[in-house]
Amino acid sequence: MSGMSKAVTRLIDQFTPENYNLSLHPDKDTMTFAGTITITGKKIGRPAKRITFHQKDLKVQSAKIKKLGKQPAEIEVSRINTHNSFDELRLHTDNLIYPGIYEVTIEFSGVITPQMNGLYPCTFTHNDQEKFLLATQFESHHAREVFPCIDEPAAKATFDVTLTSPKHETVLSNTPVKKQHERDGNLVTQFETTPIMSSYLLAFVIGELKHKQKTTKQGVVVRAFATPDNVEFTDFGLDVAVKSLEFYHDYFGIDYPLAKSDMVALPDFASGAMENWGLVTYREHCMLVDPKNTSLPTKQYVAMVVAHELAHQWFGNLVTMRWWTDLWLNEGFASWIEYMAVDALFPEWRMWTQFIVDEQQSALKLDALDNTHAIEAPINHPDEIRTIFDAISYNKGASVIHMLHEYLGPTAFRDGLRYYLQKHQYGNTDTVDLWSALEEISKKPVTAFMEQWTTQPGFPLVDADVAANSITVSQQRFHYVNQGQTHKTLWPIALKGNEALKDAILEDTEQTWPEHDNTTVFKLNAGQSGFYRVHYNSSHLQKLSEAIEAGRFDTLDRLGILSDAFETAKAGHGDTADVLKLLESYSKESEAPVWDVISGVIGSIRGVMDNETLREDMQPYIRELIQPQLDRLGWTQQKDENYFDQLLRPTILGMASVAEEPAVIAHAQKLFASMKKAEDISPDVRSVVYNTVARHGDAETFKQLVALHNGSSSSEERTMLAAAITGFQQPTLIKKSLAMITTDKVRNQDVGYWVAYAFMNRHGKEIAWEWLKTNWQWLTDNLGTDLSFGRFPIYAARCFSDKTFLKEYQKFFKPILTPALERAYKQGAEIVEWQADWKTRDFKTVAHFFATRK
Ligand code: BES
Ligand code: ZN
Repeated sequence: MSGMSKAVTRLIDQFTPENYNLSLHPDKDTMTFAGTITITGKKIGRPAKRITFHQKDLKVQSAKIKKLGKQPAEIEVSRINTHNSFDELRLHTDNLIYPGIYEVTIEFSGVITPQMNGLYPCTFTHNDQEKFLLATQFESHHAREVFPCIDEPAAKATFDVTLTSPKHETVLSNTPVKKQHERDGNLVTQFETTPIMSSYLLAFVIGELKHKQKTTKQGVVVRAFATPDNVEFTDFGLDVAVKSLEFYHDYFGIDYPLAKSDMVALPDFASGAMENWGLVTYREHCMLVDPKNTSLPTKQYVAMVVAHELAHQWFGNLVTMRWWTDLWLNEGFASWIEYMAVDALFPEWRMWTQFIVDEQQSALKLDALDNTHAIEAPINHPDEIRTIFDAISYNKGASVIHMLHEYLGPTAFRDGLRYYLQKHQYGNTDTVDLWSALEEISKKPVTAFMEQWTTQPGFPLVDADVAANSITVSQQRFHYVNQGQTHKTLWPIALKGNEALKDAILEDTEQTWPEHDNTTVFKLNAGQSGFYRVHYNSSHLQKLSEAIEAGRFDTLDRLGILSDAFETAKAGHGDTADVLKLLESYSKESEAPVWDVISGVIGSIRGVMDNETLREDMQPYIRELIQPQLDRLGWTQQKDENYFDQLLRPTILGMASVAEEPAVIAHAQKLFASMKKAEDISPDVRSVVYNTVARHGDAETFKQLVALHNGSSSSEERTMLAAAITGFQQPTLIKKSLAMITTDKVRNQDVGYWVAYAFMNRHGKEIAWEWLKTNWQWLTDNLGTDLSFGRFPIYAARCFSDKTFLKEYQKFFKPILTPALERAYKQGAEIVEWQADWKTRDFKTVAHFFATRK
């Protein structure tokens, strides 16, 4: 990306750390910390008059360099220089330092700030008292905010950590406690030496915590920590953790590398969770499950997050990417295998069916922008990492792994992985190392099959022209709008068409099969494992439509046909009104993931076409569409109901509410009116209730919802309420809801949800835009260094589909662009542009469709 950043020299090229001996004393009263570190390692490269480490905002009191070996010697440090723009600490000497083993001892101190990076405080209440604990978040490059180090993933070393902490508080780090004693009324805890690992995986937590514990079949002690009032909600996460560790132990064929595995639910947290080796930290609602208050999708999400972070204990922690360019290798892989683990734990959840909607479809949406990026993204400075903490690194990464898994088959894939982990354990890798290992074991051309998918941005649109006796398929890059680039990229595409094209791989631009078997209706990408979209000629789409009506396709194929038809129509291939006709063949549809797509189709037409008359005209259509499912499911869970039906209920009720189905609105209002505490309403339908009463509510309702929010100690509940509180129709209430964001009623970790929800309210988006501009400085001051910061332009842009807004958007953001915002800004502008184009192109036919359908 142009102007992204200064290229930064890698410090590992001059000094390779082998061991860190760190003593740290954080002081909650003064919000400072003081420490001493001894770094043992190798000076490499040319003799030089300095050794450089990373540091950020640290004060260095003293530094000593000692040469070890046959002739040990003190080397005098003549000048200590903290170079802030490069996050460096430079220790200068008068004499040359020659390659060899050195021991560097540094005394330093620093300040604990509220940003959820480095060492930071988390606030909570217990027995009506405000308290806080201290925790760390070091990925991607925040270890340097706490101690001087070579803060690069390739600089693996062992760590000996000693922490000084208040006497009655829990103190945790990656490894078990080795020794503990009291000194001056404090507790001094020395932890066991860690394995060789990257600095971003180090962690500690100090505070008033309680825990539960279990042991895996292999004898690994797993402990789940939370603040005192939350510890009762750790059972489910703990259980999933134990079973996931057992699963990975078998799957990877390697013992869990540490003696213990801790998990901690932290009240303030930047991302969802962090895989610190042996001490995984979580946002509360990604770990805690309260049987009375946790909705089913959240419970499932907890299982996914736990399985994801524990996969990293091998894939990521034991074997680590060499540099942040390959972040996807960690994250894409973990985002894929979490499905494998959860599928093994809860087969009735049908995780692989959900995978296609939740991972692949969302990746295809982001990757359809010209302002997407390749999975392997150039990263010069780690500050750029948060710009690729996105659906490409995660979801597309997972999707191409999924495709490869299909291509190799489960056994070759697993064996190849085992070989990869064995070969590279305690080391670092690049993407090609994974391909080579899989290639060696499977004897298939993995690198050739995968390379285009990870090094080129975007994905192909496959055009299929199906005639009576021939099939012609061709590929080109898929765009919602083509911003003028010419792409010559070709991808190797596993076509997976029935019979003739079963194992065919399209490598050229176009290919024709003169004959095919006509006994089944032809469909490409069977099971939807390929990362591409298909556009069929309209006579064939008609045949597919009939086959769907006749119940001839499996869930994933039904899902794929609809989403491909819809997304390609958005891009100008075919008309949206034809997709609405196709949708009529889904009248008997009963599977939740397909309904996720259907509700997405309806939602984006409502949102992007953005017109009051159209919205009203759509209501009877939506009500008719959902009626059979609404009748079947109702409001309450039946005994022995299948899992997908439980997931489907809130989707259907939500659609009914938006379509103003009178019975549903009335019932939601009744439930709310008779509710004494949140628990009175099943957590699965609670958000439908809250959102409905807000949309139809007044100042009194607003007050009630705010009171529920401010009184709730559950992070999940507060998020659910944030959607409702920002969802009123009255401008005064919308403004009031936005004003809450900058108060202490909303935690910094939740600001992103509030802003995103406020924009999603069609009565609120203009007000939210004004709010965003006015409060930009506040957002920068409070969240400018947060992972969530880069999302704000997108939250705004995706809710608009007119070019007047585009001008305003550009006018506001252009002058304030930074590397953290640039990518999201461009993506946002492109989203507004294609949405505006789509609206201009198809509004008339869509409006006509609904107007005549009433
Ligand atoms: N390692 C990440 C979190 C992370 C990435 C922190 C980059 C800082 C920089 C962690 O493993 C992760 O991926 N968490 C996800 C949850 C997961 C289930 C997708 C998250 O935080 O959303
Ligand atoms: Zn991850």
